[in-house]
Parts: sequence; C-alpha cells; structure tokens
Amino acid sequence: MLRCAQHDNSEMTIQTIQPAPHALHGSIRVPADKSISHRAAILASLADGKTRIENYLQSETTHATLDCLRALGTEIEMHDATTLSIRSRGLRGLSEPKDVLFCKGSGTTMRLLAGLCAGQDFLSILDGTHALKRRPMARVAEPLRAMGATILARDNGKLPPLAIRGGKLHGLDYALPVASAQVKSAILLAALFADSPTTLHEPSASRDHTERMLLACGVKLQVAGCKLQIEPATELRITHHASRIPNDFSSAAFFIVAALIVPQSEICIERVGVNETRTGLLDALLRMGAHIKIENVSEESGEPVGDIVIQSAELRGTQVHGDEIPRMIDEFPIFAIAATQAQGETIVRDAQELRVKESDRIATLANELRKMGAQIEERADGFVITGPTPLHGARVAAQSDHRLAMSLAVAGLVARGETIIEGWECVADSFPNFDKILEGIR
Ligand code: S3P
Repeated sequence: MLRCAQHDNSEMTIQTIQPAPHALHGSIRVPADKSISHRAAILASLADGKTRIENYLQSETTHATLDCLRALGTEIEMHDATTLSIRSRGLRGLSEPKDVLFCKGSGTTMRLLAGLCAGQDFLSILDGTHALKRRPMARVAEPLRAMGATILARDNGKLPPLAIRGGKLHGLDYALPVASAQVKSAILLAALFADSPTTLHEPSASRDHTERMLLACGVKLQVAGCKLQIEPATELRITHHASRIPNDFSSAAFFIVAALIVPQSEICIERVGVNETRTGLLDALLRMGAHIKIENVSEESGEPVGDIVIQSAELRGTQVHGDEIPRMIDEFPIFAIAATQAQGETIVRDAQELRVKESDRIATLANELRKMGAQIEERADGFVITGPTPLHGARVAAQSDHRLAMSLAVAGLVARGETIIEGWECVADSFPNFDKILEGIR
C-alpha cells in the first residue's frame, strides 16, 4: 500500500492487488455490522441506564455516530477498540449540541440522527464531508417536516447541511416513495417523540434492524408486511443491557464472491448476520449456480447469525429486479464482479437508488470495470453485464466509495496482471482491515 499527498493536503492511498496465485482457503471473520452498530449506539443513547455493546464496528462512519451522540450529551466509554458502554439519561435526556454534528461521509449517521434530532426541542446542525453533501436529504426532511419539525437545508431544503429545530411532533401516516431503511428508521426514531401514533407503508421490505431493536426495547410497534405502526414512547428499556453486534453480511459479500470466482476455493465466513432483509445477494448467486451453505444458525442480539461456507463454482447470468433490490442494495458492486465471470447476460433493473449511494454506483461501476475489460452496459435503473470476460489489471479509482474499492480488489484477484486502486483510504468507512483478511486466505 502506498500513501501520497493530494492537492487538498489529504492523503490518498493506493492499493495494489496481484492476481490470486492459487485457490482461496480458510476460515475468516469479517468486522461487525455497520447498520446494526449505528442503531445500537443510537438506541442505547435513549434507553434507561447503561448499555454495554460488544463487537461494535470500528470504522470512520460508526465512530462518526458515536462522536455525534457524545455531542448530544451521551456518555460513551470505550473499553477497547470494539467494546463500549453507553450511559444514557433516558429518552428525553439529550441536550443541545454546542457545535455542528459532523457525520463525516456517513449517510446512515445523518439520516438516522435527523430523525432523532427532529424529536428534540433544540437546534441541531448536521453536516458531513463533500461526498455526503451530495446525498439527497429531502427524503428524510419532508416526512420529518410533515411531523412538525423545522428543517432547513441547502438547495431548497434538499442537501446537507441540515439545520433542525425539533420537538412537538405529531404522528404521521406516510407512504415512503423509495424502499429505504434509513428513511424508515429516521421516521421511526422521530415517532418515539410524537404525540400520536405513526403509520408507515414501504414500497418493498428494506432491512428491519431498527424494528427488531425497538421491539426489544419495549416500544409498541406492529409490523404487517410492509406496513408499520408505532406508538410514541415514554421510555426505552434495553432488557439485556449488553448486546453483541453480528458480523456484517455486506462485508462478507466480498469474500463470498471472491471464493466463488477464484477456481478451487473453499472458505468459511464465521458468525455473519443472515437477516433475510439483507441476504438477497445469496438468492441471486444461488440462481447463478453458486455453491453456498449457511450452517450453525443461531441468534445474537435478536438477529440470526450463521457460518457461510462457499465453494467456487461456474456461474451463469441472472436477472435481479423488484423486491430483491432493497435486500441486496449494498451488494451490487460486488455482484457485478461475479456477473463478469458468469456465462451469459446478467440484468439488473429497478435499481435507480444505486445512483445516490456513496458514488453513482451505476456510472462508477461501469467506468471502472470497463478499464479492466468488463462488458457492462449502463441503464438508467441498473446495468447489463455480459460474461464471462477475462479481466485484465488496470489503474482504477475507488471514487470515494468503499464498496466499489473492495469490489475492484476482488476483481483484481481474477485479473491478468496487477490492479492498482487509487483512493483506497475510503475502505476505512466500513472495513479497515479488509486487506489483512484477504491476505489471510490467499
Ligand atoms: C442502510 C440502508 C441502506 C444502505 C446503507 C445502510 C442503513 O440505505 O444502502 O448502506 O443502515 O439503514 P437506504 O436505506 O437509503 O437504501
């Protein structure tokens, strides 16, 4: 890995990936779930008393959430890199931050905290990096305004920073225009502070970690398919006062695809969260002919976890659309790498949300993968990949997108020659030790 200074004085890291000299073998553990880590910290900051969280994700984004919660008056003590205790002053115990809440590049931090701050009778200003300033915020601001919060934002109320004056919220009956767990969670958090119940209708099911945690805290929440009804709360009670975060399926996804496409490989990824609202990638890969098994399924902090065993396989193209999209929304960059090695066409539709992720993932995937020889056609709401293509090493750019960076690294394992990835530092957003884990199975 090479570090070099950029014109704005920040450091850019360049990662070089050599083709895998032989099959991948071994058992690995990937880091903790990013989505669940954010939520565990936010809910612990509202729940009565002290909560211990084990296996908290150590990353730029999840630490941004901790910093913001501290600025809102929550006491957080780190015992080691991944274990912490959060002491809360209860549901109504947050206080006005003296400074801007800096969410770094984390969309989850900004959107979930927008919901939390909408419930508070004080001023909060949420800001982030240049990359975050491009992410759409009207999707949270509009329903929160409809509940009674005052929210000002750039570009006619649509882009960060957000200035929120909350409190005195009313319940809402709201149909989400997009299936987004971030938007759903923001409204659920605000709804805890409203004076009447809130009903939400999702167009299709998105990840349900917030619902699971709220139910575990004694919140009155009813879920019937894509309809949710939540009552305002007077307190949150965390029954165990300790929770262990499962390992992240979205981080496991890079190694699932790596083991599938590097011939003769067999790996096991231990104790991974396998919540069905997250594992659409497995369904798509199984249709493509993948050899994947989930073993030793048990429950950890209200979430199913299991060991995922993968053997390399000959893949064939498939189609992904409709309700499957939110169930694998973060996995399209790595799914695209699998598709380049599959026989025939892989078609992704209804995935226009990919355009507003950490990068415009339809455009960045197409641009970067073409540099490695992939046949990829960009569509307004997805892409078509024709395979199998022998990839070749190239100089590619991560485009400030951690999932794109790691997907290109996996592509590099099956490419001819060296792959050079510029902007590798963004991997710290979710998976700082990716390269060490990859080295361990090569
Ligand atoms: C997340 C939800 C998804 C996902 C993001 C994390 C969450 O975003 O892409 O990485 O933790 O709720 P959307 O809900 O906007 O689809």
